[in-house]
Amino acid sequence: MTKQLALATTVLLLVTSQQLLSQTTPPQLGKNTVAEVVAAMTNEEKALLLVGMGMDLHIPGVEMVTAEDKKSPEKVAGAAGRTHAIPRLGIPSITLSDGPAGVRIDPIRNGDTSKTYYATGFPIGTLLAASWDTSVANRVGLGIGKEAREYGVDVMLAPAMNIHRNPLGGRNFEYYSEDPLLSGMIAAAYVKGVQSNGVGTSIKHFAANNQEFNRMQSNSILSERALREIYLKGFEIAVKEGQPWTVMSSYNLINGTYASQSPELLTTLLRGEWGFKGFVMTDWFGGNDPVAQLQAGNDMLMPGVPGQARDIVSAVENGKLSKEALDQDVTRVLNVILQSPTFKNYKYSNQPDLKAGSQIAREAASEGMVLLKNDGKALPLSTRTRIALLGISSYDLTAGGSGSGDVNKKYVVSLTEGLANQGLTFDDSLRTIYTQYVTDQKARRPKPQPFHLPQPLTEMAVSLDQAQLLANETDVAVFTLGRNSGEFDDRAVENDFTLTSNEHTIIENVSSAFHAKGKKVVVVLNVGGPIETVSWRSLVDAILIAWQPGQEGGNAIADVLTGKVNPSGKLPMTFPSAYSDVPSAKTFPGKELLGKPSTTNNPFGGKPSEALYEEGIYIGYRYYNTFAVKPAYEFGYGLSYTDFSYKDLKLSSNRFQKSVTATVSVINSGKTAGKEVVELYLSAPRQKLSKPESELRAFAKTRLLQPGESQTLTFTLTAKDLASYDPATSAWVAEAGRYKVMVGTSSRNIKQSAPLDLAQDLVVEKSQRLLAPSETIKELQPTN
Ligand code: BGC
Repeated sequence: MTKQLALATTVLLLVTSQQLLSQTTPPQLGKNTVAEVVAAMTNEEKALLLVGMGMDLHIPGVEMVTAEDKKSPEKVAGAAGRTHAIPRLGIPSITLSDGPAGVRIDPIRNGDTSKTYYATGFPIGTLLAASWDTSVANRVGLGIGKEAREYGVDVMLAPAMNIHRNPLGGRNFEYYSEDPLLSGMIAAAYVKGVQSNGVGTSIKHFAANNQEFNRMQSNSILSERALREIYLKGFEIAVKEGQPWTVMSSYNLINGTYASQSPELLTTLLRGEWGFKGFVMTDWFGGNDPVAQLQAGNDMLMPGVPGQARDIVSAVENGKLSKEALDQDVTRVLNVILQSPTFKNYKYSNQPDLKAGSQIAREAASEGMVLLKNDGKALPLSTRTRIALLGISSYDLTAGGSGSGDVNKKYVVSLTEGLANQGLTFDDSLRTIYTQYVTDQKARRPKPQPFHLPQPLTEMAVSLDQAQLLANETDVAVFTLGRNSGEFDDRAVENDFTLTSNEHTIIENVSSAFHAKGKKVVVVLNVGGPIETVSWRSLVDAILIAWQPGQEGGNAIADVLTGKVNPSGKLPMTFPSAYSDVPSAKTFPGKELLGKPSTTNNPFGGKPSEALYEEGIYIGYRYYNTFAVKPAYEFGYGLSYTDFSYKDLKLSSNRFQKSVTATVSVINSGKTAGKEVVELYLSAPRQKLSKPESELRAFAKTRLLQPGESQTLTFTLTAKDLASYDPATSAWVAEAGRYKVMVGTSSRNIKQSAPLDLAQDLVVEKSQRLLAPSETIKELQPTN
């Protein structure tokens, strides 16, 4: 046989064996291209992949999980969802877990307590935003991602980043801020942190999901401008900067269309304009039409109901769902699966470094606490101070809000433990009394409705006589006031935003008894969002917002109270003087549409309703500062144990060309080392479009500055920072005229400013009419 002949025979043999192989072995994910795998999939397999494995809520007569799925053991017990494996094609099942404050999984499996699966309970989202420090959010994300990876989780259902439209929003604690820039930057940093571990994220809930009232069937009616500038902007930043693997569409409708069924939202905007590359999943049982969801670019239906898969298959067969759309959804899901730890066969240990997690949680918690008031240097407390520690939350700290954002943590350090850990002394009999009181109250309160929060505990009364006795025996009173909220329910005005009469009386009694002896009163707020402060703040010397600070909360609060950590957090939302001042007070949370039949048969129920966002872009400080309504504490506000001064604000040019750089120096002019959050606001000329008085356009936190030390910070403003969204031309437009660059320590305390001129109108980005309301909304407008 000649050499050529031998070669030809070998090639022929190789080709034939390849053909034989491909006839017997279908394409394999990772070995073949995604396109080849998709081409080999049957419609049933595609539907199976796009419909999650289900969540059995045990509702009689409702098929939620197939018998087949029931046989397949959960990889990570208690995780919120998982996808179907298709072993024939080498496609594994991936696991998705809540939630923003840590990995939410079952800590005990099959009753076996010899091995546990606790995860770190990190501080809530609002606290992370209050740090105004992207490196803090990044570290927390990093810590969460590590734990997720070690527990075998592929995608974290986090961060949650809807805008705080109204202080009563039940899930505001999970979300970041009333400002989209702050929300977007914190979210992006968190996403990068998680994903640096090779674990994905799902930024949620996309979009305009700002309340819990009838959350599955509520129609958010709002203008294109409010959507673009306020409710979508944070997501835009998080997508562009953070590149999350996935996005979770929200439950609500936006101007009449379910978010999960809106091609304008999920395809034209998210993919087309923003360049999102990952896949979109529904929120759990969201929407009412699986076919419309897939066609819109909502690629994955979670947690998945068997009927959805059947609907999809018949829709492809009868042409209602295009093969192209289906294949595109499948391709996007497969591309994410390819990156997942499960696909990469990561050998997870089930033993994350929880010590490292708790350290990050403690540091992050103290970085986000906000000092609202500190008269007569009531704080920090010296470690020799004897404390009268009051309030049930001092002994039973709320570490985080409830629902899917809650984490099954091993412990929560209470404030009493945190202070004791730092060697402070306090009246020990109080500890016994309060601990007993909390135990009794908890035993007595009614069992909560499934998914809902238990009734809050009634605060233990402190009479004037008792307060006087305590004032004799101790040096200072610390009263912790707590609030909780969570999924399914919005907060209430009475006895939630406002104080209960009991709480008022305690503050009055403690204040008069301690002040009579020349002793100070400190209030710690263990809250997820704003409460009323105007009626009682003058009775106390210091107020510290500890938020819901995660499992290390007591230690972190003690760090700040004793001055081990100098507080540097600032408010990520306004604390209004009264609830009636809130611009959406009259339209939140909307109204039920009486007589309108339910549009879904989802198990979480609810009624059709609508929320009209009449305040438009004027939410939070954009409203208070434009309409001259004085808040109790403004957006961006927060004190320190030291003082800072600002000097030398300089712009690279006073005429705007493509971008402009601003530099400013911050000096620690006080006596204690500290960090300062520097906020850059821009005031834009009002030509054709109305504008808020000013808007946050950049921010940064200094490093820890020693007394006398200074730091120069640099900010860059691009054309988009000057622009507003003009619905008339569907474009981001910077209007010509004089802008004012303002650098300050809060939205109402500007330290330095400089003019910036734009010679001509600038069309910064051209878009198209998207998600528009069907009728004109009579939006709030400033008069000038
Ligand atoms: C929540 C989501 C969560 C999902 C899975 C839903 O009810 O709205 O935030 O990720 O459940 O638990």
